[in-house]
Amino acid sequence: MSLPTAIQPDDATHVCYRGKRLIYFGGCDYYRLAHHPKLLKAHAQAAARDGLGTGASRMTTGNHPAHDELEASLVKFFDCETATVIGDGYLANIALGQAANGRFDAVFIDEKAHMSLRDAAQFLGCPVMRYSHCNADDLARRLSRRREAKRVLLMTDGVFGATGRIAPVGDLAKRLPRLATLWIDDAHGAGVLGDRLRGTAEHCGFSGRRVIQSITFSKAFGSFGGAILGPRWMRGSLLNGNHVVTGSSSLPVGLARATQASFQLLRKRPTLAKQLRRNTVFVKDKLRAAGLPVDNSLFPVISLECPAKKAAMALRRRLLANGIYPSCIRYPADTEEDCFRFALSSEHSREQLMHLVETLSAK
Ligand SMILES: Cc1ncc(COP(=O)(O)O)c(C=O)c1O
Repeated sequence: MSLPTAIQPDDATHVCYRGKRLIYFGGCDYYRLAHHPKLLKAHAQAAARDGLGTGASRMTTGNHPAHDELEASLVKFFDCETATVIGDGYLANIALGQAANGRFDAVFIDEKAHMSLRDAAQFLGCPVMRYSHCNADDLARRLSRRREAKRVLLMTDGVFGATGRIAPVGDLAKRLPRLATLWIDDAHGAGVLGDRLRGTAEHCGFSGRRVIQSITFSKAFGSFGGAILGPRWMRGSLLNGNHVVTGSSSLPVGLARATQASFQLLRKRPTLAKQLRRNTVFVKDKLRAAGLPVDNSLFPVISLECPAKKAAMALRRRLLANGIYPSCIRYPADTEEDCFRFALSSEHSREQLMHLVETLSAK
């Protein structure tokens, strides 16, 4: 397998691909904040003052005030007990898996959970059972076979990135024993779902102190890095010899400052989230009216399965001929299916969205 052709971003909604300027619906930068002047300025100023990297882990000499301030902002934004910044979202899951070693008797994980969550589960030191994708009944069946387990953990993506499917967190939680813990990898949901953009649990009306959220800054927040949001025991364990926290350099200060700017921006400019939702409803309604199999969720991803190679090639050619980047992905890499995945952003114009609709619904 080789890498796909490299893509050169041109502006917030275009890329240059094989010598052509194309409209871009790829990636997960749902507000296109990666190019926002406020984030770029915060990053450049911090890099000029503090350098590119911290050169050490936070447990030695790499703890910077920017990390503490970012964590304070995270606690406020997500209304969680503690927040711990980690190098990126994948590492955040691994760190949490290590930190939670020995805390649970049985773990139940969605069969399509992100690979970082599945890797993390291997550190937990107890049996791990897969349940059918987003299926609360199957979860209940599997739970009933493990009645002896007192300390239960459920692991799921909040939103499954490839399809945009939102996990039925409320339904899943109802099937769990009262003292179970829910670990949501909210890489995609955080910053997008919920009235206060707190993610999938807020969107599903679910709250509680037994929820742990792992997030990335590289999607809705337009930056890079990750964090774990949750109860005190978790932070205590992360700061007490955790291998990821102790053995890897801390987040570059420029990225911490840029991420902080991103949280401020999302809090102060609710129009961004409103525009993203308007764009999502606009495109999904139109595609459904044209007969395409598109869900009606508020998540800004359209995913079209492409079982036959010939049909996939034809759609790819049609997209290219219409000046749209053909975002065909196989993700996670261990699945057999390709799909066309279109991520809408708050920054796409009505004309661009309509052009996508017309291109996809053309016979
Ligand atoms: C569900 C999910 N979890 C974790 C990650 C990893 O995040 P990061 O890119 O910050 O390592 C991703 C990124 O693609 C993801 O989609």
